[in-house]
Amino acid sequence: MNTEVVQLDPTHLDPVVLRRAAGLLRAGRLVAFPTETVYGLGANALDPTAVRGIFWAKGRPATNPLIVHITDEAQLTKVVASWPPIAHQLAERFWPGPLTLVVPKNPVLPDEVTAGGSTVAVRHPAHPVAQALIQAADVPIAAPSANRSTEISPTRAEHVLKSLGGRIDLILDAGPCPAGIESTVVDLTEDCPRILRPGPITLPMLKATLGPISIVPFASEAPNAPARSPGQMARHYSPRTPLILVTAEQKDCVISNLRDERRNYISWKFPSDPAQAANQLYDVLHRLDEQGYEAILIELPPDTPDWVAVRDRLLRAAQQEQ
Ligand code: TXA
Ligand code: MG
Repeated sequence: MNTEVVQLDPTHLDPVVLRRAAGLLRAGRLVAFPTETVYGLGANALDPTAVRGIFWAKGRPATNPLIVHITDEAQLTKVVASWPPIAHQLAERFWPGPLTLVVPKNPVLPDEVTAGGSTVAVRHPAHPVAQALIQAADVPIAAPSANRSTEISPTRAEHVLKSLGGRIDLILDAGPCPAGIESTVVDLTEDCPRILRPGPITLPMLKATLGPISIVPFASEAPNAPARSPGQMARHYSPRTPLILVTAEQKDCVISNLRDERRNYISWKFPSDPAQAANQLYDVLHRLDEQGYEAILIELPPDTPDWVAVRDRLLRAAQQEQ
């Protein structure tokens, strides 16, 4: 299959390009598109064959459910069975935006989307291209990050092409994604809301909106615990080059060891602002991974609330293949 890349200016959306992309989605094909977090690989969420295509293209285990992207009430109604008051409250505050809410699934939604589960993850993206595409297609769009399973997530169209070229029909290229890491996922199906994946909407931001309602913070799951969020495998977002994470104190000692071993390493420092670091994270990993180093050395940011999402991605990226 030939994968076409079409450029789209997010400030002057071309209706001809959007109609074509929407037509492909309605015909059961796969289209990669930018969101404010990372590029997504979209398919019509109501078409089980199209959704199976996503799992095939990514090499994703069928047990890992997808996020459904919507832009209005009518689409939301097709996806969810109920919309609890907390969902309403969070959506009012953070949608459109990088927050995904897990709620009971509408039975009409194919089981392929939710990996057979009774809940669905749903989000209203903020990116103008994502919004215009979903509106033009006029169906809810299932979209995981547009990369092969376990590889680094894509924040540019080139990343998508490198990972999925030849396996999908179209990539809409609207430049780099502003946030740079995936949405925060919050499960609303238990008594207390629980953060399943940390992201751009942080715990303090959620707390400020929920007020007296307590929220269970993100916690890395013990290796053998039953997965609450099936996609949160230990190894994820990984470059092929071994990634070594060090604390500030360990850094000099690790570097002198790498020098003694004559290993061709690169040491990389991210900005000290967590949002800026998130914005650069995957792009830097993609670039360094292509440069033939034997190791990538990165200083692990502090264990503080504003760094939770970047630390989570780095820790998973550093896991070696089992
Ligand atoms: O920012 C994002 O969320 C991007 C863009 C494209 O929207 N999408 C994304 O999708 O990161 P993906 O498939 O790479 O990650 C979805 C995560 C996985 O960890 C998955 O297990 C979890 O959401 N998830 C999906 N449905 C779920 C459900 N019903 N219950 C719990 N976790 C769920
Ligand atoms: Mg992903």
